[in-house]
Amino acid sequence: MAQQHLARALKPEHIQQLLLSCLEAKKSAYCPYSHFPVGAALLTREGRIFLGCNVENACYPLGICAERTAIQKAISEGYKDFKAIAIASDLQDDFISPCGACRQVMREFGTDWAVYMTKPDGTYVVNTVEELLPASFGPKDLQKFQ
Ligand code: THU
Repeated sequence: MAQQHLARALKPEHIQQLLLSCLEAKKSAYCPYSHFPVGAALLTREGRIFLGCNVENACYPLGICAERTAIQKAISEGYKDFKAIAIASDLQDDFISPCGACRQVMREFGTDWAVYMTKPDGTYVVNTVEELLPASFGPKDLQKFQ
């Protein structure tokens, strides 16, 4: 199971809290164009949880995903060490999977943390950021030129 690769696996009660939190976050989704609400709950190493939802725009490309909303909220509040993120959508038959842009933004803040991809019934699959975005480009690559 992918989770066993994680250096610091989450306690079951923390997983449950994160799963409930991403469902709660989904309620705030602003998605009048796609009608596809998404919620995310981001757990920091300090134990804080930041919620995020997708926020769309009449100028379509300006919309942002739930995962990046949560990450930007956390960063802007001074938190950048993450343990896990959980994601919820209304897809009944598929686990919601983060888009490539969100995977790259997650990767900026490390590769060894967990992404819980859920279904509305509370079931999930979990992978590390590394597993979702292997052989990635990150901050260290730029250091070679600084
Ligand atoms: N969306 C997310 O917020 N997260 C995902 O993991 C997949 C897609 C949003 C973006 C857009 O507002 C809507 O879902 C349809 O793509």
